[in-house]
Amino acid sequence: MNVLLAGGAGYIGSHTCVELLEAGHSVVVADNYSNSCPEALRRVEEITGKTVRAYEADVCDSEAVERIFSENDIDAVIHFAGLKAVGESVEKPLLYYRNNIDSTLTLLEAMARHNVTRFIFSSSATVYGTPKEVPLVETMPTGTPTNPYGRTKLMMEQILTDTQYANPAMSIVILRYFNPIGAHKSGRIGEDPNGIPNNLMPFITQVAAGRLERLGIFGDDYPTRDGTGVRDYIHVVDLAKGHVKAIEYSEAHTGTEIINLGTGTGYSVLEIVKTFERVNHLTIPYVIKPRRAGDIAECFANAEKAEKVLGWKAELGLEEMCFDSWNWQSHNVNGYK
Ligand code: NAD
Ligand code: WQD
Repeated sequence: MNVLLAGGAGYIGSHTCVELLEAGHSVVVADNYSNSCPEALRRVEEITGKTVRAYEADVCDSEAVERIFSENDIDAVIHFAGLKAVGESVEKPLLYYRNNIDSTLTLLEAMARHNVTRFIFSSSATVYGTPKEVPLVETMPTGTPTNPYGRTKLMMEQILTDTQYANPAMSIVILRYFNPIGAHKSGRIGEDPNGIPNNLMPFITQVAAGRLERLGIFGDDYPTRDGTGVRDYIHVVDLAKGHVKAIEYSEAHTGTEIINLGTGTGYSVLEIVKTFERVNHLTIPYVIKPRRAGDIAECFANAEKAEKVLGWKAELGLEEMCFDSWNWQSHNVNGYK
């Protein structure tokens, strides 16, 4: 299959390129490198020994997207091309609504013109809002995300559902990711955030690398087993493999399917820190800080639907996630730079 990956040079996209290529598919990447760089794709080629056809393009630009569809026989689209910094989305809501929603509409319009019917979308557990109970099941009502970023995801889930309803030949798979961490076992590709990381694992690896002094743990008074926040961390390679399964599933499927991609297990911030220290023989200095606005106590998936529908299940554990995150960061102290 020939798969267009919008945002395919980013953290999850680059790992998905590797897994698709290794499963025998071809990939075309469209990325404006607003949060990534061409070097990531060069390394995908190095890992796989296969070629990535890459376009430097903004997928909100319908002429650029039209050209990509005209020059390639695309069978399916995976849409990773979103802005994802929660805090920035509060400060720049229009940027987030414009980029995240416009990119989705532009891709769907090009697909309609070229009769491409299969679309895999990067959604997020953030659409559940503040969970009333865990684990989170896809049939639970979505909540009120606490920020514009999360609201773009919820809006796009609705846009996609409406689009498929109007064209029953379409297959839309909405993947709700939990918390991806880790990196490819080669240590050649990984997460490389701009500026000071917002997310826990890149913050920890940058402390370990000496780029940051100490981790601030946001709150130790949550109603969890040790008072720190609990999340469903998933290895990015497992997540990438979930996309290969979703692409293959979409071949014989029509409709809209919403699927959690998580492990089904939650770990606390302190459990992550302790496991990271143990498997990498390091010490992570930390200080307890006040709770971060908008954070929830606990969030983890019921992962049964992915197994039932896609035949996919996360295989890599927390120790591998911590080991591979550090393997990437320690060999690339300044990321791709
Ligand atoms: P990322 O920033 O590493 O990757 C996104 C890629 O899209 C980047 O390469 C960026 O340059 C590109 N991009 C953004 N806007 C674009 C545009 N208009 N045109 C072309 N390229 C554009 O992020 P990621 O962690 O790989 O996330 C991928 C997707 O998964 C995003 O939609 C994100 O919202 C979603 N998601 C991520 C997480 C997470 O924790 N990483 C969790 C849930 C959902
Ligand atoms: C995890 C835990 C923090 C940083 C966010 C988005 C979500 C999705 C994934 C895209 C929490 C704690 C963190 C730090 C800390 N992204 N923490 N110190 O908040 O679960 O989810 O990323 O879709 O939409 O909201 O992930 O990695 O930021 O935080 O103590 O410096 O680590 O409080 O308990 P989160 P995270």
